[in-house]
Amino acid sequence: MKTLDCPYSGVCGGCAWAVQDFDEQNNMKLEEVRALFPEVRWLYSPDARVRDKVDLVWEDGRLGLYRLNDRTVLDIETCVMMTKPLEDFFKEYRLKTPPIRKGSVRLRVSPSGEKGVWLDFANQDVKNLFDERDYLKWLSSIAFVEIGQRRKHLTWKDGAPKLVDPELRPWFDSYDAAGKSIPLYGPVGGFSQTGFNANRALVDSVLALAKKSAVSDWVELFCGNGNFTLALASTGAQIEAVEMDPLAIEGLNKALPSNVKLSQADVYLKAKTLPALNGRGLLVDPPRAGLREVLGLLHEDNLPSAIVYVSCFTGTFLSDVADLKTRGYRLEDLHAINQFPYSPHAEWVALLTRR
Ligand SMILES: C[S@@+](CC[C@H](N)C(=O)[O-])C[C@H]1O[C@@H](n2cnc3c(N)ncnc32)[C@H](O)[C@@H]1O
Repeated sequence: MKTLDCPYSGVCGGCAWAVQDFDEQNNMKLEEVRALFPEVRWLYSPDARVRDKVDLVWEDGRLGLYRLNDRTVLDIETCVMMTKPLEDFFKEYRLKTPPIRKGSVRLRVSPSGEKGVWLDFANQDVKNLFDERDYLKWLSSIAFVEIGQRRKHLTWKDGAPKLVDPELRPWFDSYDAAGKSIPLYGPVGGFSQTGFNANRALVDSVLALAKKSAVSDWVELFCGNGNFTLALASTGAQIEAVEMDPLAIEGLNKALPSNVKLSQADVYLKAKTLPALNGRGLLVDPPRAGLREVLGLLHEDNLPSAIVYVSCFTGTFLSDVADLKTRGYRLEDLHAINQFPYSPHAEWVALLTRR
Protein backbone atom coordinates (compact mmCIF):
# COMPACT_ATOMS: atom_id res chain seq x y z
CA MET A 1 0.00 0.00 0.00
CA LYS A 2 1.41 3.38 -1.02
CA THR A 3 0.11 6.49 0.76
CA LEU A 4 1.28 10.11 0.76
CA ASP A 5 4.52 10.73 2.61
CA CYS A 6 3.48 14.00 4.28
CA PRO A 7 3.32 15.04 7.97
CA TYR A 8 -0.21 16.40 7.42
CA SER A 9 -1.70 13.28 5.81
CA GLY A 10 -5.24 12.64 7.00
CA VAL A 11 -5.54 16.14 8.46
CA CYS A 12 -4.92 18.57 5.59
CA GLY A 13 -7.83 19.14 3.21
CA GLY A 14 -5.40 19.83 0.34
CA CYS A 15 -4.96 16.08 -0.24
CA ALA A 16 -8.26 14.53 0.83
CA TRP A 17 -7.13 11.03 -0.23
CA ALA A 18 -3.62 11.16 1.33
CA VAL A 19 -4.13 8.03 3.43
CA GLN A 20 -5.66 5.90 0.66
CA ASP A 21 -3.59 3.62 -1.52
CA PHE A 22 -2.30 5.52 -4.56
CA ASP A 23 -2.99 2.80 -7.14
CA GLU A 24 -6.40 2.05 -5.72
CA GLN A 25 -7.54 5.67 -5.78
CA ASN A 26 -6.22 6.18 -9.29
CA ASN A 27 -8.16 3.14 -10.37
CA MET A 28 -11.29 4.57 -8.69
CA LYS A 29 -10.92 7.75 -10.73
CA LEU A 30 -10.55 5.83 -13.98
CA GLU A 31 -13.48 3.63 -12.99
CA GLU A 32 -15.74 6.69 -13.09
CA VAL A 33 -15.16 7.09 -16.83
CA ARG A 34 -14.52 3.47 -17.83
CA ALA A 35 -18.08 2.93 -18.98
CA LEU A 36 -17.48 5.71 -21.52
CA PHE A 37 -14.12 4.45 -22.70
CA PRO A 38 -12.88 1.07 -21.38
CA GLU A 39 -9.29 1.58 -22.62
CA VAL A 40 -8.79 4.82 -20.63
CA ARG A 41 -5.39 5.04 -18.88
CA TRP A 42 -3.21 7.72 -17.32
CA LEU A 43 -1.00 9.67 -19.70
CA TYR A 44 0.54 11.49 -16.76
CA SER A 45 0.35 10.38 -13.14
CA PRO A 46 2.95 11.71 -10.68
CA ASP A 47 2.53 11.10 -6.94
CA ALA A 48 3.77 14.53 -5.67
CA ARG A 49 5.35 17.92 -6.60
CA VAL A 50 2.69 18.91 -9.12
CA ARG A 51 1.97 22.51 -8.11
CA ASP A 52 3.69 25.63 -9.45
CA LYS A 53 0.95 27.79 -7.91
CA VAL A 54 -0.94 27.42 -4.64
CA ASP A 55 -3.90 29.10 -2.94
CA LEU A 56 -3.53 29.37 0.83
CA VAL A 57 -5.38 30.98 3.72
CA TRP A 58 -4.13 33.12 6.59
CA GLU A 59 -6.19 32.71 9.74
CA ASP A 60 -5.15 34.11 13.12
CA GLY A 61 -1.45 33.81 12.29
CA ARG A 62 -1.73 30.35 10.73
CA LEU A 63 -0.93 29.92 7.03
CA GLY A 64 -2.08 26.83 5.20
CA LEU A 65 -5.11 24.97 3.94
CA TYR A 66 -8.43 24.09 5.48
CA ARG A 67 -8.41 20.96 7.61
CA LEU A 68 -10.16 17.92 6.22
CA ASN A 69 -12.82 17.81 8.90
CA ASP A 70 -13.55 21.43 9.80
CA ARG A 71 -13.25 24.92 8.32
CA THR A 72 -10.26 25.98 10.39
CA VAL A 73 -6.87 26.55 8.82
CA LEU A 74 -4.11 24.00 9.32
CA ASP A 75 -0.74 25.74 9.68
CA ILE A 76 1.71 23.98 7.35
CA GLU A 77 5.47 24.35 7.08
CA THR A 78 6.03 22.14 4.04
CA CYS A 79 3.93 20.77 1.20
CA VAL A 80 4.94 17.79 -0.93
CA MET A 81 2.52 18.84 -3.67
CA MET A 82 4.50 22.03 -4.34
CA THR A 83 7.39 21.85 -6.79
CA LYS A 84 10.72 22.65 -5.14
CA PRO A 85 10.90 26.27 -6.42
CA LEU A 86 7.36 26.93 -5.13
CA GLU A 87 8.04 25.24 -1.80
CA ASP A 88 11.21 27.30 -1.33
CA PHE A 89 9.22 30.46 -2.04
CA PHE A 90 6.45 29.32 0.33
CA LYS A 91 8.98 28.83 3.13
CA GLU A 92 10.40 32.29 2.50
CA TYR A 93 6.91 33.84 2.35
CA ARG A 94 5.80 32.36 5.66
CA LEU A 95 8.72 33.94 7.55
CA LYS A 96 6.55 37.00 8.27
CA THR A 97 2.91 37.07 9.33
CA PRO A 98 0.72 39.92 8.02
CA PRO A 99 -1.17 41.90 10.65
CA ILE A 100 -4.61 40.66 9.54
CA ARG A 101 -7.10 38.17 10.96
CA LYS A 102 -8.04 36.25 7.84
CA GLY A 103 -7.42 36.39 4.08
CA SER A 104 -6.42 34.41 1.00
CA VAL A 105 -3.03 34.31 -0.65
CA ARG A 106 -1.87 32.90 -3.96
CA LEU A 107 1.80 32.15 -4.50
CA ARG A 108 3.29 31.42 -7.92
CA VAL A 109 6.68 30.81 -9.42
CA SER A 110 7.03 31.48 -13.15
CA PRO A 111 8.90 29.23 -15.60
CA SER A 112 11.86 31.63 -15.35
CA GLY A 113 11.76 31.60 -11.52
CA GLU A 114 10.03 34.93 -10.85
CA LYS A 115 7.99 34.87 -7.65
CA GLY A 116 4.47 36.35 -7.45
CA VAL A 117 2.01 36.91 -4.60
CA TRP A 118 -1.66 37.84 -4.81
CA LEU A 119 -3.21 39.01 -1.53
CA ASP A 120 -6.99 38.85 -1.44
CA PHE A 121 -7.68 40.55 1.89
CA ALA A 122 -10.61 42.62 3.19
CA ASN A 123 -10.40 46.35 2.36
CA GLN A 124 -9.88 47.29 5.99
CA ASP A 125 -6.98 44.81 6.27
CA VAL A 126 -5.40 46.22 3.11
CA LYS A 127 -5.75 49.71 4.54
CA ASN A 128 -4.08 48.59 7.78
CA LEU A 129 -1.22 47.04 5.78
CA PHE A 130 -0.79 50.32 3.88
CA ASP A 131 -0.68 52.24 7.17
CA GLU A 132 1.74 49.75 8.72
CA ARG A 133 3.98 49.55 5.57
CA ASP A 134 6.69 47.21 6.92
CA TYR A 135 4.98 43.99 5.84
CA LEU A 136 4.36 45.21 2.28
CA LYS A 137 7.89 46.63 2.04
CA TRP A 138 9.33 43.26 2.95
CA LEU A 139 6.96 41.41 0.62
CA SER A 140 7.85 43.70 -2.30
CA SER A 141 11.52 42.94 -1.67
CA ILE A 142 10.98 39.20 -2.23
CA ALA A 143 8.21 39.05 -4.87
CA PHE A 144 5.95 40.78 -7.37
CA VAL A 145 2.86 41.78 -5.37
CA GLU A 146 -0.76 42.01 -6.48
CA ILE A 147 -3.66 43.03 -4.25
CA GLY A 148 -7.43 42.61 -4.34
CA GLN A 149 -10.08 41.35 -6.72
CA ARG A 150 -9.00 43.84 -9.38
CA ARG A 151 -5.47 42.39 -9.30
CA LYS A 152 -3.87 45.81 -8.77
CA HIS A 153 -0.09 45.85 -8.75
CA LEU A 154 1.72 47.19 -5.66
CA THR A 155 4.37 49.82 -6.36
CA TRP A 156 6.15 52.41 -4.23
CA LYS A 157 6.18 56.18 -4.67
CA ASP A 158 8.24 58.43 -2.38
CA GLY A 159 8.47 55.58 0.11
CA ALA A 160 4.67 55.05 0.21
CA PRO A 161 2.82 51.98 -1.13
CA LYS A 162 0.57 52.60 -4.13
CA LEU A 163 -1.79 50.38 -6.14
CA VAL A 164 -1.65 50.75 -9.91
CA ASP A 165 -3.34 48.93 -12.82
CA PRO A 166 -2.66 45.20 -13.18
CA GLU A 167 0.63 44.32 -14.84
CA LEU A 168 0.44 41.14 -16.88
CA ARG A 169 3.53 38.96 -16.79
CA PRO A 170 4.46 35.55 -18.24
CA TRP A 171 3.58 33.47 -15.18
CA PHE A 172 2.82 30.34 -17.17
CA ASP A 173 3.77 28.55 -20.39
CA SER A 174 2.01 26.77 -23.19
CA TYR A 175 3.85 24.72 -25.82
CA ASP A 176 3.86 24.70 -29.59
CA ALA A 177 3.58 21.56 -31.68
CA ALA A 178 7.38 21.09 -31.50
CA GLY A 179 7.31 21.30 -27.68
CA LYS A 180 8.80 24.82 -27.54
CA SER A 181 7.51 27.08 -24.73
CA ILE A 182 5.05 29.86 -25.48
CA PRO A 183 4.71 32.46 -22.68
CA LEU A 184 1.20 33.09 -21.34
CA TYR A 185 0.62 36.54 -19.85
CA GLY A 186 -1.71 37.21 -16.94
CA PRO A 187 -1.98 38.49 -13.40
CA VAL A 188 -0.69 36.36 -10.51
CA GLY A 189 -4.35 35.95 -9.53
CA GLY A 190 -5.48 34.87 -13.01
CA PHE A 191 -6.45 31.35 -14.02
CA SER A 192 -3.75 28.90 -15.05
CA GLN A 193 -3.44 25.16 -14.86
CA THR A 194 -1.83 23.93 -11.64
CA GLY A 195 1.65 22.99 -12.74
CA PHE A 196 3.97 23.19 -15.72
CA ASN A 197 4.46 19.43 -16.17
CA ALA A 198 0.79 18.51 -16.01
CA ASN A 199 0.06 21.35 -18.40
CA ARG A 200 2.55 20.01 -20.91
CA ALA A 201 0.68 16.70 -20.81
CA LEU A 202 -2.64 18.54 -21.24
CA VAL A 203 -1.40 20.58 -24.19
CA ASP A 204 0.06 17.44 -25.81
CA SER A 205 -3.30 15.70 -25.40
CA VAL A 206 -5.26 18.57 -26.91
CA LEU A 207 -2.89 18.74 -29.87
CA ALA A 208 -2.95 14.97 -30.40
CA LEU A 209 -6.76 14.79 -30.31
CA ALA A 210 -7.17 17.87 -32.51
CA LYS A 211 -4.82 16.25 -35.02
CA LYS A 212 -6.76 13.00 -34.87
CA SER A 213 -9.97 14.90 -35.69
CA ALA A 214 -8.34 16.19 -38.91
CA VAL A 215 -10.23 19.49 -38.43
CA SER A 216 -8.33 22.73 -39.08
CA ASP A 217 -11.01 25.35 -38.39
CA TRP A 218 -11.89 25.69 -34.69
CA VAL A 219 -14.09 27.57 -32.28
CA GLU A 220 -12.64 27.61 -28.77
CA LEU A 221 -14.80 28.54 -25.78
CA PHE A 222 -13.38 29.33 -22.30
CA CYS A 223 -9.93 29.96 -23.83
CA GLY A 224 -8.41 31.79 -20.81
CA ASN A 225 -5.14 33.51 -21.69
CA GLY A 226 -4.53 31.15 -24.58
CA ASN A 227 -3.05 27.96 -23.19
CA PHE A 228 -4.63 25.72 -25.85
CA THR A 229 -5.32 28.53 -28.31
CA LEU A 230 -1.67 29.34 -28.91
CA ALA A 231 -0.67 25.66 -29.01
CA LEU A 232 -3.33 24.86 -31.59
CA ALA A 233 -2.59 28.03 -33.56
CA SER A 234 1.05 26.87 -33.87
CA THR A 235 -0.20 23.99 -36.04
CA GLY A 236 -1.62 26.49 -38.55
CA ALA A 237 -5.26 25.95 -37.48
CA GLN A 238 -7.75 28.83 -37.75
CA ILE A 239 -9.34 29.61 -34.38
CA GLU A 240 -12.18 31.81 -33.18
CA ALA A 241 -11.65 32.00 -29.42
CA VAL A 242 -14.03 33.29 -26.74
CA GLU A 243 -13.32 34.18 -23.12
CA MET A 244 -15.06 36.24 -20.45
CA ASP A 245 -12.21 37.48 -18.24
CA PRO A 246 -10.88 40.86 -19.49
CA LEU A 247 -7.40 40.33 -18.02
CA ALA A 248 -7.06 36.92 -19.69
CA ILE A 249 -8.07 38.57 -22.97
CA GLU A 250 -5.56 41.37 -22.45
CA GLY A 251 -2.87 38.75 -21.77
CA LEU A 252 -3.67 36.73 -24.88
CA ASN A 253 -3.82 39.91 -26.97
CA LYS A 254 -0.17 40.62 -26.11
CA ALA A 255 0.96 38.23 -28.84
CA LEU A 256 -2.10 37.15 -30.78
CA PRO A 257 -1.21 35.24 -33.96
CA SER A 258 -3.03 36.30 -37.14
CA ASN A 259 -4.85 32.95 -37.38
CA VAL A 260 -6.65 33.59 -34.06
CA LYS A 261 -9.72 35.82 -33.73
CA LEU A 262 -10.45 36.61 -30.09
CA SER A 263 -13.65 37.95 -28.56
CA GLN A 264 -15.02 38.61 -25.11
CA ALA A 265 -18.34 37.10 -24.07
CA ASP A 266 -20.03 35.30 -21.24
CA VAL A 267 -20.48 31.96 -22.95
CA TYR A 268 -23.48 31.01 -20.81
CA LEU A 269 -25.34 34.31 -20.93
CA LYS A 270 -24.54 35.12 -24.56
CA ALA A 271 -24.60 31.59 -25.98
CA LYS A 272 -26.75 32.72 -28.90
CA THR A 273 -24.11 35.21 -30.07
CA LEU A 274 -21.27 32.65 -30.23
CA PRO A 275 -19.50 31.86 -33.54
CA ALA A 276 -21.21 29.39 -35.87
CA LEU A 277 -20.10 25.81 -35.21
CA ASN A 278 -21.40 23.89 -38.18
CA GLY A 279 -18.78 21.55 -39.66
CA ARG A 280 -16.00 23.09 -37.57
CA GLY A 281 -14.11 21.83 -34.53
CA LEU A 282 -15.20 22.91 -31.04
CA LEU A 283 -12.56 23.08 -28.29
CA VAL A 284 -13.86 23.63 -24.77
CA ASP A 285 -12.28 23.78 -21.31
CA PRO A 286 -15.18 24.99 -19.16
CA PRO A 287 -15.23 25.72 -15.44
CA ARG A 288 -16.78 23.09 -13.15
CA ALA A 289 -20.28 24.05 -14.31
CA GLY A 290 -19.55 22.35 -17.65
CA LEU A 291 -21.09 23.24 -21.00
CA ARG A 292 -24.61 24.17 -19.83
CA GLU A 293 -26.15 26.59 -22.40
CA VAL A 294 -23.57 25.61 -25.04
CA LEU A 295 -25.31 22.25 -25.38
CA GLY A 296 -28.54 24.02 -26.39
CA LEU A 297 -26.69 25.54 -29.37
CA LEU A 298 -25.93 22.17 -30.90
CA HIS A 299 -28.99 21.77 -33.08
CA GLU A 300 -29.34 20.34 -36.53
CA ASP A 301 -27.73 23.14 -38.56
CA ASN A 302 -25.08 24.06 -35.98
CA LEU A 303 -23.21 20.84 -35.30
CA PRO A 304 -19.40 20.81 -34.95
CA SER A 305 -17.86 17.82 -36.71
CA ALA A 306 -15.47 17.25 -33.78
CA ILE A 307 -15.36 18.34 -30.15
CA VAL A 308 -12.25 18.35 -27.97
CA TYR A 309 -13.50 18.59 -24.41
CA VAL A 310 -11.05 19.32 -21.56
CA SER A 311 -12.57 18.86 -18.11
CA CYS A 312 -11.41 19.14 -14.52
CA PHE A 313 -14.75 18.04 -13.08
CA THR A 314 -15.88 14.49 -13.66
CA GLY A 315 -19.55 15.02 -12.72
CA THR A 316 -20.38 17.63 -15.38
CA PHE A 317 -18.05 15.97 -17.88
CA LEU A 318 -20.04 12.73 -17.64
CA SER A 319 -23.41 14.42 -17.95
CA ASP A 320 -22.24 16.62 -20.85
CA VAL A 321 -20.85 13.61 -22.73
CA ALA A 322 -24.12 11.74 -22.14
CA ASP A 323 -25.98 14.72 -23.61
CA LEU A 324 -23.61 14.92 -26.59
CA LYS A 325 -24.21 11.25 -27.32
CA THR A 326 -27.95 11.93 -27.65
CA ARG A 327 -27.00 14.51 -30.30
CA GLY A 328 -25.19 11.93 -32.40
CA TYR A 329 -21.64 12.25 -31.05
CA ARG A 330 -19.41 9.30 -30.29
CA LEU A 331 -16.54 9.34 -27.81
CA GLU A 332 -13.58 8.45 -30.00
CA ASP A 333 -10.73 8.89 -27.53
CA LEU A 334 -10.21 9.82 -23.90
CA HIS A 335 -6.96 10.88 -22.23
CA ALA A 336 -6.57 10.92 -18.44
CA ILE A 337 -4.19 13.31 -16.71
CA ASN A 338 -3.72 12.90 -12.99
CA GLN A 339 -3.17 16.57 -12.29
CA PHE A 340 -4.39 16.28 -8.67
CA PRO A 341 -2.88 13.14 -7.07
CA TYR A 342 -4.18 12.08 -3.65
CA SER A 343 -7.44 13.94 -4.30
CA PRO A 344 -10.71 12.83 -5.95
CA HIS A 345 -10.03 15.08 -8.95
CA ALA A 346 -8.53 14.44 -12.38
CA GLU A 347 -8.34 16.10 -15.75
CA TRP A 348 -9.97 14.51 -18.81
CA VAL A 349 -9.36 15.31 -22.47
CA ALA A 350 -11.92 13.77 -24.81
CA LEU A 351 -12.44 13.67 -28.56
CA LEU A 352 -16.04 13.36 -29.71
CA THR A 353 -16.98 13.11 -33.36
CA ARG A 354 -20.13 12.71 -35.40
CA ARG A 355 -20.26 9.76 -37.72
C1 LIG B 1 -10.76 25.91 -16.82
S1 LIG B 1 -10.33 27.54 -17.36
C2 LIG B 1 -9.55 27.18 -18.90
C3 LIG B 1 -8.60 28.20 -19.43
C4 LIG B 1 -7.57 27.71 -20.44
N1 LIG B 1 -8.07 26.66 -21.30
C5 LIG B 1 -6.30 27.24 -19.75
O1 LIG B 1 -5.94 26.06 -19.90
O2 LIG B 1 -5.65 28.06 -19.08
C6 LIG B 1 -11.87 28.14 -17.76
C7 LIG B 1 -11.88 29.53 -18.36
O3 LIG B 1 -13.24 29.85 -18.64
C8 LIG B 1 -13.46 31.21 -18.34
N2 LIG B 1 -14.90 31.33 -18.06
C9 LIG B 1 -15.57 30.97 -16.94
N3 LIG B 1 -16.87 31.21 -17.09
C10 LIG B 1 -17.04 31.72 -18.33
C11 LIG B 1 -18.15 32.17 -19.06
N4 LIG B 1 -19.37 32.14 -18.52
N5 LIG B 1 -17.97 32.64 -20.31
C12 LIG B 1 -16.72 32.68 -20.86
N6 LIG B 1 -15.62 32.26 -20.21
C13 LIG B 1 -15.77 31.80 -18.96
C14 LIG B 1 -12.57 31.50 -17.14
O4 LIG B 1 -12.28 32.89 -17.08
C15 LIG B 1 -11.34 30.65 -17.47
O5 LIG B 1 -10.42 31.40 -18.22
